[in-house]
Amino acid sequence: MTDSLPLRIGVIGDPIGHSRSPLMMNRALAYLGIDGHYGAYVVRPAALETAINGMRALGFAGMNVTIPHKETVCAFLDEIDPVAKAIGAVNTIVVREGKLWGTNTDGIGYVRSLETELGIRVQQRNILLLGAGGAARGIAFALAAQRPASLAIANRTHARAQQLAYALGDILHCDAVAWEDVPDALAHYDTIIHTTSVGMFPHVEAMPLRLDNLRYGTIVSDIVYNPLQTAWLQHASQCGARIHRGLGMFIHQGAYALEQWTGRQAPHAVMYEAVEASLRQ
Ligand code: ATR
Repeated sequence: MTDSLPLRIGVIGDPIGHSRSPLMMNRALAYLGIDGHYGAYVVRPAALETAINGMRALGFAGMNVTIPHKETVCAFLDEIDPVAKAIGAVNTIVVREGKLWGTNTDGIGYVRSLETELGIRVQQRNILLLGAGGAARGIAFALAAQRPASLAIANRTHARAQQLAYALGDILHCDAVAWEDVPDALAHYDTIIHTTSVGMFPHVEAMPLRLDNLRYGTIVSDIVYNPLQTAWLQHASQCGARIHRGLGMFIHQGAYALEQWTGRQAPHAVMYEAVEASLRQ
């Protein structure tokens, strides 16, 4: 791509209609004065390889990848960075000298959001991660890389918590905790992170578990950002928690991607305001 052409970037997924990424990214491009466009493209699973090759042919600078393509897209890329390889999923493709390079900004985006918004360092925390799916995996690897004081994982299906703890074993020792033991074990942790989709719009009343035995001042974090504050975070707040909402992770993962594509510093506040305003409507 030559400098004179507008920057082409976007997101592929199925479905993609509700994505807030185009709003967030196009607002950022306008703020930075970059001539370009971030589009949202529905790509059916069977068309993924064709879409990726189309991206090369059309001179895209990069692409975000979302459900259901984060794992399967790996087969069609030229290089995958070690973090994305360990997670087994790519959420950002960057085109470098004609080669497609896959990375994963979800976990690092989460850690950056947690640390900057609460003014803490992960290194000093005793963390319980709730969930062991794709989102949990990205966050778990990013947390482990920061070497927290301790990291435990609980998941409804215990075997998946054990598998994730095992996968992290080369970086950090992690315990798998039985899901049903969590309500009585809450006092062992100063940071509790919920990574499942329970409580997400439209099922806004649902909660993963009760927090009545929480220690005062425990950080409770929920990666769900629609609604902006989940019923579970409200419950956590009533139990004396310091809460951390999910929107920051979304903003920071996007900001990292944008910085890779443009080489410019992402305007976090502008991006945050755009998405928050759209979710308030
Ligand atoms: P994602 O990529 O969004 O993380 P996923 O890989 O399908 O999606 O993982 C979903 C996670 O939410 C899992 O940890 C799942 O628990 P199971 O492994 O037991 O399925 C968790 N989850 C989904 N519904 C849940 C519920 N009602 N209560 C507790 N955990 C739930």
